[in-house]
Amino acid sequence: MIVKALEIIKVEVVVRNIAAGSLAKRLGLAEGTVMAKTVLEYYYKDDALGDPLINASHIAALDLATPEQMEFIRTTALKVNDIMREYLAPVNIDLIDYKLEFGIHKGQVILGDEISPDTCRFWDKNTGEKLDKDRFRRDLGNVEGAYQEVLRRLTGE
Ligand code: TMP
Repeated sequence: MIVKALEIIKVEVVVRNIAAGSLAKRLGLAEGTVMAKTVLEYYYKDDALGDPLINASHIAALDLATPEQMEFIRTTALKVNDIMREYLAPVNIDLIDYKLEFGIHKGQVILGDEISPDTCRFWDKNTGEKLDKDRFRRDLGNVEGAYQEVLRRLTGE
């Protein structure tokens, strides 16, 4: 794999179409509640603090990214939503939410890290079966089988 070394921006970006996980808990929503509008969240990437939820004002105050960089991050994160939902719909996978990271390479902000069942919630459109890391997080079993199922649907392998 050929990669670009990034200076990572210490902001994790979470995009949510359907309530699950920490959002469901924080707002008292049933998991599976369809959000009337796509929700965009920022978390401060700091393990010692447990990656707390922050907003654009915190990001500016902590000088984590410039307003211009944040605008690029916001529009890119939402563009990824359109691309992924279109990619997953034909294989009957609902994109519930996902986390993105961005970094700086040669002065430019680019999408970094990975996009996988480790960083997204994927639910089977018909059965609601979880096909992502929640199988591990919630001890549901068949973690590897679920990841293989996503690969099989997307590649036919
Ligand atoms: P959350 O509901 O636990 O906040 O997770 C939202 C999304 O972000 C979900 O798709 C899982 C992903 N995520 C990560 O990839 N890494 C993390 O450390 C966390 C907390 C969430």
